[in-house]
This record gives sequence, structure tokens and C-alpha cells, in this order.
Amino acid sequence: MTNELAYDEHSVSGGVEGTYPVQQVLFGGLAIQFDDRVLEPRQWTTHQSFWAAQLMVGAPAGPVLELCAGAGQIGLLALTLSDRAGVLVDADPIACGYARGNTERAQMADRVEVRNARAEQALTPADRFAVAIIDPPWVPSSGTDRFPADPLFAIDGGPAGLDVAAECLRAVNAHLLPGGSVLIQLGTAEQLTQLLADVEDDAVWQVQRVWRQDQGRGVVAHLQRHQNLA
Ligand SMILES: C[S@@+](CC[C@H](N)C(=O)[O-])C[C@H]1O[C@@H](n2cnc3c(N)ncnc32)[C@H](O)[C@@H]1O
Repeated sequence: MTNELAYDEHSVSGGVEGTYPVQQVLFGGLAIQFDDRVLEPRQWTTHQSFWAAQLMVGAPAGPVLELCAGAGQIGLLALTLSDRAGVLVDADPIACGYARGNTERAQMADRVEVRNARAEQALTPADRFAVAIIDPPWVPSSGTDRFPADPLFAIDGGPAGLDVAAECLRAVNAHLLPGGSVLIQLGTAEQLTQLLADVEDDAVWQVQRVWRQDQGRGVVAHLQRHQNLA
């Protein structure tokens, strides 16, 4: 269920003025606000949140990262089930504005930081994370017209749908604690195979498990760095 609440009169990137009704959904019990410039929360992705929360139980001590956080709901829902700190990253300033508001509404602003940056520029040398959640745009550019309601920047992953996914996995590589986990969302298992081949010069990732959404809406994969394995 989506509710329209108010109008956000911020200008759109590119300088075009417009008004956008603020909408609100419940995502795993969390009130999440967004508007049409940001990808609408997809209910099936609560699975990624709950899986991330499970991984946090056995992960080393340390904070949780979400790359491509959008309005922040996947990472925030996971973090409600833990007392860990979190960093939510998105390249879109409008998405980050909503992620900050959603963090405050969830009363988590004391432990969740929102960074507006591309994945490859978002992390500081000292950042180390126990779990990294990645929800990149993964639709191949040639197929984005199948989703006319979705903001192009949020879904267009380049020719094979893997440009931002590869950027994110490379970004995480130097910032994952030993024994840490990555939980990445893609469109298909075939994309996962191609992605791991694309990034193998930077790190060898071991696939622990792949979950396929039963209506074919996406896959989520649990990865660990090969050198992390006992
Ligand atoms: C598929 S959406 C996911 C958003 C949210 N996690 C969700 O599930 O609704 C991808 C997000 O990645 C962001 N994005 C695109 N390129 C990026 C990049 N290079 N670095 C960080 N974020 C990026 C977009 O702004 C968008 O919010």
C-alpha cells in the first residue's frame, strides 16, 4: 500500500523544477518515504534485509555497509534487527535525502550515517565492514524500457547490467573485515557468474548461496572473499 503524504518541491537534477508527491510504504514494518524520482521499495527485497540480519549474527564485530541504498529501506530494516552501526551510500542526492529522513523516522540516526557519493568514492581508508549489502542497478540498458515507471539512473546497469555492480564489489573489496560477508542483488544467476568473472583480478569471491525470487524478479547472493574462508 502506498500513501501520498505531501509534496516535495526540490528541483530535479538538471535544474528542472517540479513537484513530487511524497509517498510512504511499510517495508517489513518500517515506514519508508520516497517519491517518483527514487525507486519505489520492492516488497520482495525484505528478504535481503532479513538475510543480512541473519549474517550479522555470526559476522565479526563491526558496522554494516549498504551500497546503492536508495531510500535506505533494505539496510535500515536489517539494522533494526541488530545493534550494529551502519553506513548507507547512494550517488543520488534525492535518494540520500529520503534515506536520512527514513533513518530519523526509524530512530536510528545515532548509529546510521548516510553518504551521498558514488560507490567507488564513498569509503575512507579506515572504513571496515562486517557485512556489505549491495543493491545496484542491474537492468541491461537495452531492457530499461520494460520499466517505464522506474527512474533510469536507479535501474540502468550498463550494457550487461553489471557496471555499477562491479564498481560496488571492487569498492567493498578492501573494506571487508576478515570473515565478513557481501549480500548482493542482481537480476539473474547468469549475471552473477559474469560479474565474478569481471572482477576476479581484484579478488576471488566465493559464492556461499544464491536465492532466486520465485517470480523471477531478481536473485540475491551471499559472497565471501576466498582468503576469508577458514
Ligand atoms: C536498484 S536501485 C536500489 C535502491 C534501493 N536499495 C532499493 O532497493 O529500492 C539502485 C540505486 O543505486 C544508485 N546508484 C546508481 N549508481 C550508483 C553508483 N555508482 N554508486 C552508488 N549508488 C549508485 C541509484 O541512485 C539507486 O538508488
